[in-house]
Amino acid sequence: MSKKVHPRNRLYELGAAYYPDYIPREILTRMTDGDIRMLSTNERIAEDFKRMENQGLHTIRMGEFSWSSVEPKRGEFTFERFHLALKLAEKHGINVIFCTPTATPPKWLIDEYPDILPITRHNVQIPFGSRRHYDFAHPAFQQESKRISEVYAKEFGKSPAITGWQTDNEFGCHNSIFLFTKHMKNAFHGWLEQKYGKDLKSLNENWFTWFWSQGYTEISQIELPFASWADQNPHLELDFRRFANELIAQFQKDQILLIKKYSPGRFITHNLMTLFFDLCPWVASEDLDVVGFDHYQMEQDPHPVSSAWQFGLMRSLKKQEKFLILEQQPVQVNWQPVNRRFTFDWLFLWAAQSAFQGAKGMYDFSWQRMYGGGEQYHDGVVPHDVRIPKSSQEKVIEAKNEFFNKVAADFSLDVLPDTRKDVLCIFNSESLWSHEITSQSVLYHTRKEIDAVSQLCVWGGLGLHFAPSLEAAKSQLSEFGCLVLPGYAFEFTENERHVLRDFVSRGGKVVSFPRTAMKKPNNQMSPLPLFLYNRDDFYLDDYGALLDVESDTFVAGDKGSNGSFKGLRWAEKIVVQNSTWQPLAMFESGHYAGFPAVIQNKSFKSGGIHTHFATCPEITPEFTRWFWKSVGMESTVVDLSESARELQFFPLVLADRRFMGVVNFGYTNETCRIKSHTFAHSKIITAGIDGACSLEMTTSTRVAQGNQIKLDMPARKMLLLEFLV
Ligand code: GAL
Repeated sequence: MSKKVHPRNRLYELGAAYYPDYIPREILTRMTDGDIRMLSTNERIAEDFKRMENQGLHTIRMGEFSWSSVEPKRGEFTFERFHLALKLAEKHGINVIFCTPTATPPKWLIDEYPDILPITRHNVQIPFGSRRHYDFAHPAFQQESKRISEVYAKEFGKSPAITGWQTDNEFGCHNSIFLFTKHMKNAFHGWLEQKYGKDLKSLNENWFTWFWSQGYTEISQIELPFASWADQNPHLELDFRRFANELIAQFQKDQILLIKKYSPGRFITHNLMTLFFDLCPWVASEDLDVVGFDHYQMEQDPHPVSSAWQFGLMRSLKKQEKFLILEQQPVQVNWQPVNRRFTFDWLFLWAAQSAFQGAKGMYDFSWQRMYGGGEQYHDGVVPHDVRIPKSSQEKVIEAKNEFFNKVAADFSLDVLPDTRKDVLCIFNSESLWSHEITSQSVLYHTRKEIDAVSQLCVWGGLGLHFAPSLEAAKSQLSEFGCLVLPGYAFEFTENERHVLRDFVSRGGKVVSFPRTAMKKPNNQMSPLPLFLYNRDDFYLDDYGALLDVESDTFVAGDKGSNGSFKGLRWAEKIVVQNSTWQPLAMFESGHYAGFPAVIQNKSFKSGGIHTHFATCPEITPEFTRWFWKSVGMESTVVDLSESARELQFFPLVLADRRFMGVVNFGYTNETCRIKSHTFAHSKIITAGIDGACSLEMTTSTRVAQGNQIKLDMPARKMLLLEFLV
């Protein structure tokens, strides 16, 4: 590899997960001068840091699985390796996020307290030998977690290299949140007593325990919701999920307090995973200073629409602070049924996409490609074969540094602009769980509904943000044009109805999707479903799931003159009783043919509109155009063609400056037009990497014509544009 040091860019932090604890006593190493030599552990660590500096890495994250390396026996500590790494990090100007090591309790601890091991819903004990093998509720483990966090914070916490701390690693990974141990049961009993009191009348009512003869007379009778023949009590299950999330938040908080005490002035983060829906991201991030996110593709193919909303959700968890991608998956992981390779250009495009959705940096997982352990086939920045002069991932890191350097210079930026606030979507874990628990259709999942919202936003060029509830949205709603309820399950409280009414009366646009406001917070069905503003606006005559081969056509305008679209997954038969609600589109096929598929209320002051969908629309470019126009929002993108489906548009702002980020995830060159309003022209940087992972970048300007700017979007490239007067 070249000895050239790549200057670090100032806009988007680049990093990697680094494991000095995994380095053998002797290791064949490619030196930064190209020589191949056998090095000792310490020599290799020194060489690693040189290589990181050469690449222009800003930060490394380390320590999260290091417990048995640091404390091989109770009370016997070997800190030297991490001290060396911290010294070298300081020398090479690399920041460190240090982690507490609680995700991997050592064997000696498990031998002392064998019942620290978790038990699954199927009553199977998870053995030692992998990770996350602990019970959050075990009093001895809670104590140990505090003890080892204190040891780490005291020992390493004063290092000037450490700028931040990560708690544990990926709470919830491997379904590790809902545990079925005796300590969980005890703690759950305490939680229930707090919630319902000692007299079980209220609990029995809330849990509808008459059903299948489940009445309780003593709290001690209550079991955890183990896997059962038929459905478990869905009310108990929802409470159990709430309880488990609060418990984890407390477990994390105990660590945070100690870190703050012994390593003051550092930010605290955790690497959340949004596609593990068992963990409520709002609860888990409450005590964090900076939101951390692990960006992985859970399917065989990358799903950029899903990534877009996950980034948006992470951006929304802390309003004042952008988030960090603490782990970015490489092009090959090890945990899929078939770990097929993606092309390297994904790594560049994801960086651009996340930067446009509020990420302030991206750390690769991981620095080393491991020679041993369960992840030995997983990619890393430093490859197995020491003869490779420079790895593809290293080239991508260099390309990212070069690109963001160019952006900083050409646009005179010290920070990247942030996602514009157009659409606020409610992401509420309890609502999601409620749908999951009694789902009525495996085809219906809140995730799909949010994918749909994400697709509408990236095709419409509207900025998407999230809030956990209407109550929480209240203070920020005035900054947004549109509020989306993607099947928010629970009845609105009087207060929430007030928030809603206030928003529409000030001109806001509200869109709700099926399964909105159908449940009580205790997970019972509401006797007044879809009670949005007035109790008697409509009634829900019938509803139900659609098969995946089924779609109910719905048409807008006279005989479909404004479009004919498909409804998927779910349909509602709504009987409107108040003429302020008008049908906007009608079901043409299916059970509810002749009934409204979309209804709208335009009677609010200042042009406010509420649009409710009685089915989950299939999102196509044509539907997207109709949708934004009908719900009353102006999309930024003009006439997106069918072939341009892989384009995503992100409107960005920085003080009074206006930008647009565009990513073409597709394999064809496209042209498109965006609205420029009062702007006369624009300055553009287009970039991507070629097959050899080298940066391809062009700069250009465009003059607006008729308030529109025409863009060329080459295949697999991204573009950043500033609108200028
Ligand atoms: C993440 C985890 C990492 C590593 C990675 C492999 O979920 O945090 O430690 O296991 O997956 O893809």
